[in-house]
Amino acid sequence: MGSSDASRTLIDAARRARRHAHARFSGFKVGAALEAQDGTIITGCNIENATYGLTLCAERVAMFKALSEGHRRFRRVAVVADTEAPTPPCGSCRQILWEFGGDLEVVLANLRRQTGMYRLAQLLPLPFDARLL
Ligand code: THU
Repeated sequence: MGSSDASRTLIDAARRARRHAHARFSGFKVGAALEAQDGTIITGCNIENATYGLTLCAERVAMFKALSEGHRRFRRVAVVADTEAPTPPCGSCRQILWEFGGDLEVVLANLRRQTGMYRLAQLLPLPFDARLL
């Protein structure tokens, strides 16, 4: 599978995951799909709740699901929202993706097209992680 086919597959998985979003407070539904080193795709969606502050973003749900299922190495992540402008991972998600996924390829898309492609190191320059402890 070429890398753009792989991106399309990952984006499609993130679009499907987005349909499960719990976003009744913001109305902003997000889907994420994480590709493990062995090719497994693990998805997530954002989950909001009545206290607001306990909200988990789609990216962290995907990463925590993946870790809890035994995945340890990852290649890329796709993030999908229904907006013209790209929806990049928030600061908290960048930190978690970096610590557990390293310099992932980050593919951004909306419901119709890809809207951006970055390396996580571009989005999180000078990261803090366990190597500095
Ligand atoms: N959100 C994500 O799930 N991922 C992002 O990359 C950006 C923000 C969620 C959190 C919240 O439920 C809603 O989008 C609005 O911020």
